[in-house]
Amino acid sequence: MTLALIILAAGKGTRMRSDLPKVLHPIAGAPLVVHAMEAGKPLSPERCVVVAGHGADLVRKRVLAHDPAAEIVLQTEQLGTAHAVDQARAALEGFEGDAIVLYGDTPFVSAETLADIQAARAGGADVVVLGFEAATPGKYGRLVVEGDRLARIVEAKDATLKELEITLCNSGVVCADSATLFDLIAKVGNDNASGEYYLTDIVDIANADGKRCVAVTCDEAETLGVNSRVDLAAAEAVFQARRRRQAMEEGATLVAPETVQFAYDTKLGRDVLVEPNVVFGPGVVVEDGVELRAFSHLEGCHVGQGSIVGPYARLRPGSELAEGVKIGNFVETKKARIAAGAKVNHLSYIGDATVGAEANIGAGTITCNYDGVLKHRTEIGEKAFIGSNSALVAPVRIGAEALVGAGSVISDDVPDGALGVTRAKQENKPGLARRLRARLLEIKARKQAG
Ligand code: UD1
Ligand code: MG
Repeated sequence: MTLALIILAAGKGTRMRSDLPKVLHPIAGAPLVVHAMEAGKPLSPERCVVVAGHGADLVRKRVLAHDPAAEIVLQTEQLGTAHAVDQARAALEGFEGDAIVLYGDTPFVSAETLADIQAARAGGADVVVLGFEAATPGKYGRLVVEGDRLARIVEAKDATLKELEITLCNSGVVCADSATLFDLIAKVGNDNASGEYYLTDIVDIANADGKRCVAVTCDEAETLGVNSRVDLAAAEAVFQARRRRQAMEEGATLVAPETVQFAYDTKLGRDVLVEPNVVFGPGVVVEDGVELRAFSHLEGCHVGQGSIVGPYARLRPGSELAEGVKIGNFVETKKARIAAGAKVNHLSYIGDATVGAEANIGAGTITCNYDGVLKHRTEIGEKAFIGSNSALVAPVRIGAEALVGAGSVISDDVPDGALGVTRAKQENKPGLARRLRARLLEIKARKQAG
């Protein structure tokens, strides 16, 4: 079915006590509003309209960065949820299909639940509202159900004592034919305890109009909204718990799942081993059979099949590891293409570089990529061997099968198959160490005597 998402994201989020609009606070490296957009993605919506208000410029930027096809409409004054949806009217003028309203601060509505909502629509309901059994109904709107129909929604502030006993609450998610939705909204007034235009009023209006309204329910965890930093931390915990479980179900071993931190878009293959305290920033793809050892930090990188990373490795954005690459302890890589079977095993920085297949980068090798103003590239050929503690001063090329002597500072290219070495020639003075030591001991003895 042709579908438009309308995501309400204009609220200020006073209780966040933040200069950042609430919907831009991150969970797993992505803003709340992006999670809401992603939640709707399995339905392949044709349109995605985000209603922004507080911090609209920032919200626009972040939303468009995630999906350039998304549309932003402005709600300059926050006059209620119906008024918020109404701001999408012009954008969706002439749109033929359903509209689903989601909240930008409610990141976890599942694909299954959204499918249930669509099924209810396909089953003949004109308006579908997503409800949940609330452990503490508190300030939530209450769903008044009569038989198999949803009669109306009453906001807690406007409810009678009897209505407050209802535990089936409104999540805020609503689905209807787009044109019908805007027709209903046009009839919503603001004569209520808050003086706001309530989206929830469309149920009563639709029923009076002879339309059929139904409630679909989901688990309360899916409707979890974020209103404070404490909620944000709780939402992060929920996300991480789900993501870890999903990774394991898809065939990764997590030795200590509760210590692994995922990003919203982390991709792990089968038979990936993730040791404790591994952190994934955004944009990580890990192929089958990779070992990610303890305390490694990965971000914006691709780890090829069968590679071993860490312990204590840091893969920064633009790190592209082919198959069977080894990145060892205290190694940092950035914008580095590392070809199959290459090894960077200890204490190195490889940045703005390409490393050829089966090259061996010795301990303590540094690509000196930055001259204080500009960045430069280092190229290391196939099967090259870089001796320990070498500085490769970019721009520089080390040829295929070339060898760099340990402790060298290489600023000129080393041709294929050549040995490049820059350190001073070694000189041995026979017996000198013993003679020196004897003299020093003599001096010490004289001082102690006198
Ligand atoms: C709303 C529902 C309530 C439901 C609850 C679930 C109405 C009238 N009430 O109440 O039934 O139980 O959500 O959390 O719909 N927003 C705008 N512009 C506005 C007003 C709100 O963009 O003018 C956005 C907010 O940023 C937020 C969402 O809409 O993301 C919900 O608004 P909020 O003020 O939290 O509604 P509630 O009073 O909690
Ligand atoms: Mg709310």
